[in-house]
Amino acid sequence: MSFSRQELADTIRSIPDYPKPGIIFRDITTLLGNPRAFRRAVDELVNPYVGMNVRKIAGMEARGFILGGAVAHQLSAGFVPIRKKGKLPHETVSIAYSLEYGVDEMEIHRDAVLPGEKVILVDDLIATGGTAVGAVQLLRQIGAEVVSACFVIDLPDLGGRAKLEALGVEVRTLVEFSGH
Ligand code: PRP
Ligand code: MG
Repeated sequence: MSFSRQELADTIRSIPDYPKPGIIFRDITTLLGNPRAFRRAVDELVNPYVGMNVRKIAGMEARGFILGGAVAHQLSAGFVPIRKKGKLPHETVSIAYSLEYGVDEMEIHRDAVLPGEKVILVDDLIATGGTAVGAVQLLRQIGAEVVSACFVIDLPDLGGRAKLEALGVEVRTLVEFSGH
């Protein structure tokens, strides 16, 4: 028998005051370590896209690699890594972005997609949306068409989903946590 959405949410561990006082860290390692929950989360992320002939999944380092790789495999799509600065060996495009607790820079290979190629973005969580918005901008800069973005966790109080939707990107999420 498969998990309900609530049971899936219950496999995610909440850690108060990490990495800073006042932030509740939503820890997916407990979901990933639970075989049925991991299967269920990947299936739920994949299901809306079955039959769409999506060519590529893009995932953001680091947690987006775990889920994005599994989603890509299940859709028989390729995988495009969006990495923290300085990790990709070929010609890159980079972007500075802000996230819930800091700023960083990420990169993509310039030749990671063909012009107009349909790409779905995958990450574990959307909070302020800084990471996902940056990823969409990178993908568009190299000619991708970002058809959708999906996340296991939405923190709606932080407004990331609305920012992505304002860019014209469909957003799909599995569980929500209010407060942050
Ligand atoms: C976390 C999470 C998302 C991002 C969401 O990644 O995995 O990628 O923050 O926050 P935002 O919507 O405010 O941008 P983090 O940069 O902490 O690192 P990791 O994935 O490498 O663990
Ligand atoms: Mg991340």
